[in-house]
Amino acid sequence: MLFQVTIFLYLLHSSASVMCPYMCECALDDRGRYEIVCRRGDMANPIPIGQMDLGTEVLKIVPSEENPNHLTIGPIFQQFQHLEELHITNSFIPAIGFHPFWGVPSLRYLNLTHNNITSLLDYNFKGMMNLQELYLDFNKIESIPSSVFMHLSDLRVLSLAHNRISKLAPRLFLKLSKLKSLDLSYNDIVEINPEIFKDIQELKTFKCRSCGLENINPMMYSILADLIYLDLGYNQLKYLLADELEDLKKLETLLLDGNHFPVILEKSFSSQFKLQVLCLKRNRLAKVTTTAFTNLTNLIELDISYNKLDRLEVASFDPIENSLRDLKISGNNIQLSDVKNVLDKLVKLKALSIADMNYTDIPKGLFKMNPHLQFLNLSGNNLQDIHNLLYQSNIKLTHLDLSRNKFKGFDEKSYIMSEPKNIHKAAKNSFALQSSMGKNAEYAVFIASSSISYLLEALLT
Ligand SMILES: *[C@@H]1O[C@H](CO)[C@@H](O)[C@H](O)[C@H]1NC(C)=O
Ligand SMILES: *[C@@H]1O[C@H](CO)[C@@H](O)[C@H](O)[C@H]1NC(C)=O
Ligand SMILES: *[C@@H]1O[C@H](CO)[C@@H](O)[C@H](O)[C@H]1NC(C)=O
Ligand SMILES: *[C@@H]1O[C@H](CO)[C@@H](O)[C@H](O)[C@H]1NC(C)=O
Ligand SMILES: *[C@@H]1O[C@H](CO)[C@@H](O)[C@H](O)[C@H]1NC(C)=O
Repeated sequence: MLFQVTIFLYLLHSSASVMCPYMCECALDDRGRYEIVCRRGDMANPIPIGQMDLGTEVLKIVPSEENPNHLTIGPIFQQFQHLEELHITNSFIPAIGFHPFWGVPSLRYLNLTHNNITSLLDYNFKGMMNLQELYLDFNKIESIPSSVFMHLSDLRVLSLAHNRISKLAPRLFLKLSKLKSLDLSYNDIVEINPEIFKDIQELKTFKCRSCGLENINPMMYSILADLIYLDLGYNQLKYLLADELEDLKKLETLLLDGNHFPVILEKSFSSQFKLQVLCLKRNRLAKVTTTAFTNLTNLIELDISYNKLDRLEVASFDPIENSLRDLKISGNNIQLSDVKNVLDKLVKLKALSIADMNYTDIPKGLFKMNPHLQFLNLSGNNLQDIHNLLYQSNIKLTHLDLSRNKFKGFDEKSYIMSEPKNIHKAAKNSFALQSSMGKNAEYAVFIASSSISYLLEALLT
């Protein structure tokens, strides 16, 4: 009898596990979890849960934007007691509804990006005490009442980018004390009351890119002193007080591009000892003070491109001379001699972008002190030939962007002359030329196997 029951259960289980809705694919994912993926699109209600294995751990209803679904969600997931991860995207879901995930305590990861959700309500997230990551990006969310997320006491990641949120209600993040990452980018928030962060003081990543922010109350930084990654790019910020970032001592990445800063004041970042990436691209910087980078002794990447700089002070680079690997100064009006003085200091540099600078020549010896240079972007200058560049025998580039210059033609021989052994050897192996060398060739890419390999884009245009 027992034997028969066992057989019966076995058959039941194995027949259940071959069930798969005809428009979906069912298999084990790379972590060995039972996964159903429905990519086909054009699905309408109801979601065919009757044809899904009740042991499903991952369910993805993720059509392309061209073939969206039209779905609603209700309390249909209770039977899936092992469901850990749920994605329903591009499906015009209009609302989350009355706690649809109540009774699915296994759910840890919910992705409802690219839907048509306009508001969030108190009861939406009831019973989701084990959810760790919630993605609601690319919806039309306008209003979020206070404490809407309070049932999500285990939440680590909350992403609300690309919505229409204009106001952050008080205590919005009540009970989210474990939150590590918050993304509010591409909303129209304009002003943030720092009080809101008191409930999420362990935040490590905060992004509010293109949020319409005109200023930041520095109290925000004091409350969020654990931040490692801060993105406030493309806002309307106009100034940065010298001590404004004082409390952000753990910061590793700071993105402030696309704002209106006219100058980097003295010692603005002097508490950011751990900073590795600083992006100030596309501001209105006309001056970088000599102590602007004081104490940034771990800085690896600095982007000050597309500003209004007409000179670089060598002394500004003193604090970062040993750490900097990647410097981007494209789109400023800086003399090549200034650039050379800075380059002479940055002996560990691996990547340099000096695009859109109107340079007509790259003089011999420009990179004399930069033997580690591998990536060089010279796009958008007025270069007519690359002889001098190719005679910089001390550097071994892996990437070279020469697009948008004024090359009249390209003399393959001169190119080969520069590094005869390597090029010839490479030619025998995998020297690949993906376009004719004719005068009108728009695109030429060389990839060589040995120590030299160049990427030449739109060389002849
Ligand atoms: C959400 O699902 C979409 C598929 O439609 C995917 O492209 C995206 O990466 C997912 N987001 C997250 C955070 O998993
Ligand atoms: C999406 O929501 C808007 C209201 O914000 C509505 O007018 C529109 O019909 C919805 N689209 C679909 C396909 O349901
Ligand atoms: C730079 O760091 C040192 C500690 O290493 C600190 O004493 C000094 O005040 C910092 N400089 C500024 C301008 O804050
Ligand atoms: C380069 O020259 C063009 C045309 O003369 C000018 O419009 C542009 O501002 C110059 N760029 C820089 C970085 O000086
Ligand atoms: C070089 O710089 C130009 C202009 O800033 C940019 O558009 C291009 O993507 C860069 N090239 C590479 C290979 O990163």
